[in-house]
Order: sequence, then C-alpha cells, then structure tokens
Amino acid sequence: MKVGIIGYGSMGKMLLWKFSESGMFEREDLYVANRTSEKLVETKDIACSVSNLEVAKNADIVFVCVRPADMKEVLSEIETVLNRDTLLVTLNGSITFEMIKRIVDLKTAKVIPSLTAEINQSQTIVCYNEKVTNEDKEKLVSLLALFGEVIELPEKEVGMGSELVSCMPGFIAAIFDVICSSAEKHTDIPHGQVINMVLKTMCATGELMLARDMSFDETVARVATKGGITEEGTKIIYKHFPECMDELFYKTLDKRKVTALKTEESFEKE
Ligand SMILES: NC(=O)c1ccc[n+]([C@@H]2O[C@H](COP(=O)([O-])OP(=O)(O)OC[C@H]3O[C@@H](n4cnc5c(N)ncnc54)[C@H](OP(=O)(O)O)[C@@H]3O)[C@@H](O)[C@H]2O)c1
Repeated sequence: MKVGIIGYGSMGKMLLWKFSESGMFEREDLYVANRTSEKLVETKDIACSVSNLEVAKNADIVFVCVRPADMKEVLSEIETVLNRDTLLVTLNGSITFEMIKRIVDLKTAKVIPSLTAEINQSQTIVCYNEKVTNEDKEKLVSLLALFGEVIELPEKEVGMGSELVSCMPGFIAAIFDVICSSAEKHTDIPHGQVINMVLKTMCATGELMLARDMSFDETVARVATKGGITEEGTKIIYKHFPECMDELFYKTLDKRKVTALKTEESFEKE
C-alpha cells in the first residue's frame, strides 16, 4: 500500500511521522507534498517529497491535509490524475461529501484526528461516502489505529464528533487553566506544582471512571459527602457551569456552519 500526504502542516506532519514510525512502510511507499517545499527537508529520509500531482498519481490512499480555504484548489489540481481505485481522504469536518463530489467523484473518506494522536491516544472520527468498500475501510482503519481508537460516525454527526474528541483537548486545557488560575489566588503552592496536581488528578479521575465504569453522578457522590466541602464546590459548578457550556456548543456549532457556508461559496466560485 502506498500512502500520500498533501499538506505538511500540523496534521500532515503528524500522519506522516506516525506512518513512518509504524515500520509498516518503506521510504518509497510514502509520498508527501507541501506548498512551501522547504518544509519537507526534514522528511527526506522517511518519504519521497514530490508534487501534489505525483502524490495523487502514485498513492493508493491520498490524505489531503490542507485548510478548507485551500481545499478546492488542491482537489481541482489533482482531480485529473486520481484513479478510480484511489481512496481520497479529507481532514475537515465542514467540507461535505456533496461539495467534494462536485470536483472529485471518487471513493472518499473524512477523518478527524485529535491532538492526543501524538501519544497514540487519539479517538479519530471517520466517515465514508457510498463508494468506499469494506476493504478500503479496513485499510484506512488499520492506518488510523496506529495512533489510537477509530470511531465511525454518520456524516451528519461529524461536527459534534469533532467537538467531542478533536476540539476537546483545547476545551479541557482552557477549563483547567481557569481552575488553576482561580486556585492560585488562594495559595502559595508554586504554579508548576498546582498544574501538576490538577492535571494528574484529572487524568486519574478519567482513568478511574473508565476502569470502574463509574458515572459522573457516582464519582461526585463518592467525593462530595453531604454537607462537606466538595459538595459546596460541586453545587457551584452545577449552578453556573451549564450556561457556559451551552454557550460554548452554541457558538462552536454555529462557527462550524459559517465555515461550511464560506467553504461552499469557495467551491461554487469558478
Ligand atoms: N490541527 C488539528 O488539530 C486538526 C484536527 C482535525 C482536523 N484538522 C483539519 O486538518 C486540516 C489541516 O489542518 P492543519 O492544522 O494541519 O493546517 P496547517 O497546519 O495550516 O497545514 C496546512 C498545510 O497545507 C499546506 N498547503 C496549503 N495549500 C496547499 C497546496 N495548494 N498544495 C500543497 N500544500 C498546501 C500548507 O503549506 P504552507 O507550508 O505553504 O503553509 C500547510 O503546510 C484542516 O482542514 C483542519 O480543519 C485539524
């Protein structure tokens, strides 16, 4: 299997290095292209750096890892050289199969990895158009499984799926940043130690809940004894935090729609 990557930014780089490190590929089996070709110097020992067209011509699976604004240009460029057995993979949740089909009417999958892929703990969202065969799905999943779990969703759920696994590391980091900043107003414990204490407790709580199949209610009840200190804190969270999270999902899902509309307009322009 030959794998190609167009766009060597945050996602393209992560994918290329994960594929290379897996030991599944010889250098000759991996192709990479980027608009700014100088960036590819660091890939010279692990992949063949070529043009977008050569990636599309040679690879059995082509990952297009460019931003939505650049997607139409790249698809239009490679459309004539892709063959009908190639599996085209895009990485953006806002670009629909219907939009892609206007330019490239081939087997297409959408893949949304998470930053946690860096430590092989991604929960990568995947969905397919109707042309993708079970064999294609198996091949793609075997690649994505190199850096974590793979979750197949219908296209209409890719937006929320992306919020829950791909945006979530950012949301979690922001929430715990606020928690640490508030805590630091009331303590002389050094900054780094506060962060360590909170992050390790966060990870251990998640692991405990998954390992023991504990619900949120159960976990809260185990710590927040009636009339105790934790209960005082959890009451505040349940009083004020829902409004914040409702607004967050309202705004992010709305932003997703705006991005989809803008991208759709760019797909319609000649
Ligand atoms: N970042 C994430 O956590 C994440 C997670 C899931 C999905 N995604 C999606 O993945 C896609 C890529 O995101 P990213 O964060 O990797 O973006 P990025 O870091 O901005 O990388 C985009 C890359 O595409 C290259 N490029 C642009 N136009 C090109 C062209 N015509 N031919 C070849 N290469 C071209 C850019 O080259 P230059 O070097 O010239 O700029 C850049 O290296 C986006 O659709 C994003 O929504 C991102």
